[in-house]
Amino acid sequence: MADKKAQLIIEGAAPVELPVLSGTLGPDVIDVRGLTATGRFTFDPGFMSTASCESQITYIDGDKGILLHRGYPIEQLAEKSDYLETCYLLLNGELPNEEQKAQFVSTIKNHTMVHEQLKTFFNGFRRDAHPMAVMCGVVGALSAFYHDSLDIKNPQHRDISAMRLVAKMPTIAAMVYKYSKGEPMMYPRNDLTYAENFLHMMFNTPCEIKPISPVLAKAMDKIFILHADHEQNASTSTVRLAGSSGANPFACIAAGIAALWGPAHGGANEAVLAMLDEIGDVSNIDKFIAKAKDKDDPFKLMGFGHRVYKNFDPRAQVMKQTCDEVLAELGINDPQLELAMKLDEIARNDPYFKERNLYPNVDFYSGIILKAIGIPTSMFTVIFALARTVGWISHWKEMLSSPYKIGRPRQLYTGHTQRDLDK
Ligand code: CMC
Repeated sequence: MADKKAQLIIEGAAPVELPVLSGTLGPDVIDVRGLTATGRFTFDPGFMSTASCESQITYIDGDKGILLHRGYPIEQLAEKSDYLETCYLLLNGELPNEEQKAQFVSTIKNHTMVHEQLKTFFNGFRRDAHPMAVMCGVVGALSAFYHDSLDIKNPQHRDISAMRLVAKMPTIAAMVYKYSKGEPMMYPRNDLTYAENFLHMMFNTPCEIKPISPVLAKAMDKIFILHADHEQNASTSTVRLAGSSGANPFACIAAGIAALWGPAHGGANEAVLAMLDEIGDVSNIDKFIAKAKDKDDPFKLMGFGHRVYKNFDPRAQVMKQTCDEVLAELGINDPQLELAMKLDEIARNDPYFKERNLYPNVDFYSGIILKAIGIPTSMFTVIFALARTVGWISHWKEMLSSPYKIGRPRQLYTGHTQRDLDK
């Protein structure tokens, strides 16, 4: 609410008075919307100082390492809730009661299959295509199949699209994996939980249905919860921006998937494993730590640091615990995982990383857990996308539920002034 004012003094011009808005938590923001009337814009590449929207879904305090979904701390959700309950919370604002949860789970299960013809899309891709490339294409193609829920002005259509996306993402992600392996795609099984069903579609085949380990299913569910939403990050902002033009939800989520793919964002969990490969052996760690500190060397320790968390990433704390549980349960003895643990220990005690508050982030441990579960590296970001879909679609729904404008940033032009062709 606006009860304070800020004054902007511009040399040679009259002072501009700007309202200061306060949220329920977090820093006040200066409302610069009136600035265009003075013929000026703000300049903020990377949006380091810009709140792009008002939202009631997720709150992060990066200095204190706090992450709240609809007010609930992520640690409590990871311990006491499950992914589908967290989805309900993100989408609807409150945790479901028993009846609401049963109804929600049943609706999601009703939508787990994809249109049979969607399978034919896969044949257009090379088997060795990166799974994220296939995800962008196939998820974008969903709008060609579900015409009955594309009226973005209709709240029921918006709800159905949200449910469809949450329900179908594990099926599509597993189809992407099976296609890359040349194995038959597995149909979803509605007698399983969300995480169990995903592992079933990933690892079972029509000729061998193995039981799903409860420890791995629980770890998978936690990975889904911990990636469910993270306020206005690059991919969520992309979904909002695409949605602000009136694009359909499937197209918006495909845009979010594309933005997530980059190694500075969701691609980091894959990059962590690539980096461990590059380091190769514990004896090389010191050399790579030195490279990470060297400003003339582009090498960075992947899985360390965060734009918002400058203390610790609360998701990484939970993820580390899950990682320990999974490794203990599976009794894994993998030199790459040992290397990761050693790197974690060394970087945590190194003054360069301590001074800059560069802690291992969620992607550092999720990559290790996913590897231990047997998921190939190239699928890591796909799993992030699967889990984040609910966050993206919750933000999309929130934006469409109140008045909004098309996202249209301005620029500081530093190119040529007008000139004439020399002919
Ligand atoms: N390794 C070595 N140095 C680093 C690293 C790193 N991973 N991250 C930051 N620094 C240094 C950086 O060089 C700078 O040093 P100085 O102050 O001497 O110039 C200082 O730490 C501050 O970093 P920054 O680049 O200003 O921070 P940022 O907020 O712009 O970047 C980041 C955040 C996540 C892009 C960056 O830390 C990074 O590239 N990390 C590795 C990639 C990664 O793990 N990304 C996943 C993020 S978590 C998943 C998600 O939410 O998407």
